[in-house]
Amino acid sequence: MPYNFDEIIDRTGTNAMNTDGFRDYLFQGADLTFPYADDEFIRMWVADMEFASPPEVIQAVKARLDKRIFGYTKVFDPKYYEALAHWTQKHYDWTFQKEHLVTSNGIVPALYDLVDYLCQPDDKVLIVTPSYAFFKHAVDYHHRELVTSDLANQAGYYTINFDDLEAKAKDEKVSLCIFCNPHNPSGRVWTREELQRVGDICLENNVWVISDEIHCDLLRNGETHTPLAKLFPETDRIITCMAPSKTFNMAGFMFSNVIIPNEQIRAVWQARHYALDNPLSIAAAQAAYQYGDEWVAQLKSYLDDNFAFLKEYLDRHLPQAIFRIPEATYLAWVDIGAYLPEEQNLSLFFAQNAGVLLEGGNMFVANSDGHIRLNVACPRSVLEEGLKRISHALLR
Ligand SMILES: Cc1ncc(COP(=O)(O)O)c(C=O)c1O
Repeated sequence: MPYNFDEIIDRTGTNAMNTDGFRDYLFQGADLTFPYADDEFIRMWVADMEFASPPEVIQAVKARLDKRIFGYTKVFDPKYYEALAHWTQKHYDWTFQKEHLVTSNGIVPALYDLVDYLCQPDDKVLIVTPSYAFFKHAVDYHHRELVTSDLANQAGYYTINFDDLEAKAKDEKVSLCIFCNPHNPSGRVWTREELQRVGDICLENNVWVISDEIHCDLLRNGETHTPLAKLFPETDRIITCMAPSKTFNMAGFMFSNVIIPNEQIRAVWQARHYALDNPLSIAAAQAAYQYGDEWVAQLKSYLDDNFAFLKEYLDRHLPQAIFRIPEATYLAWVDIGAYLPEEQNLSLFFAQNAGVLLEGGNMFVANSDGHIRLNVACPRSVLEEGLKRISHALLR
């Protein structure tokens, strides 16, 4: 059955971060007025989608509601593990032991906890930059030192500077690397060779790895995701984070998978977590992995077309923008430095001058000046309007 990704869905009155949370997140709650009413903004910021979740997921939640009792709940039934393992086997030719799986209210909360469990008080944590900012926040929160390794950027194609990464991993205080695979915001799907080198460098230097694979299902057609842990079956020092949240647009269910092969760390997790789950979230996640394949296939094609549209639009209207269609994610990482060399606060500039909400610049930790990140997981008509506004603001 064809799913409709062109539909514009009204999110008002749903407490959506996307519609109601932008002042706090993008502008730290500053009392700003804009020449646009809140409902006039084109929203291309936070990483959720403007598409309805799969009807199969919604149906499963309704069926669970019909059971009418919502008492204390946890994933006891092996069917959830079976659905997830079947998904990872089919899509990445990789599975993991059932005992290694724990669930979390999100990947971000898991990162905060794992930094604490894995690192001694004076340890350091390594990331590559630009980076999803919560990697830094999790490290800062626990007063660990952040060590960054800038990715190399050739005309929008990002690669790892392995000499630099290795030199930093050799610091014996570096005990953890939080690694984004595939990478937000560059959209790189790391090759097996790249992943092999990252893993070798970390493991040879006694560095734990958290491989955040939350974006792994949303690849351009023709790309393949390799879980980092798949390449290192002998180690128990790689923790893998995956979730149905991005893939099926259900971040609000707050239900993610954390695969912790190391028995001691898993024991710490289990001892410190009040490990209950939301009954609706379990139903939604299980149905997503069981029945969501066709929906994801159609979503990926829609996103591929949105990226082609974006590329063509930029080539025609903003030829000095540097952009490559990303190999993964629904996030476009665009260098607009040629148009706005002095601008520091890109979110504020585009909110005020274009009525577009987006993230950019130093929101991505380092190595990100002059870049904006555009969320293209929206109906094409919305994307087109957003791009028109962005190019008018830059060219006027
Ligand atoms: C790399 C990465 N990790 C984690 C998250 C958020 O995870 P969660 O909603 O499960 O806390 C995001 C959201 O954008 C992300 O891009």
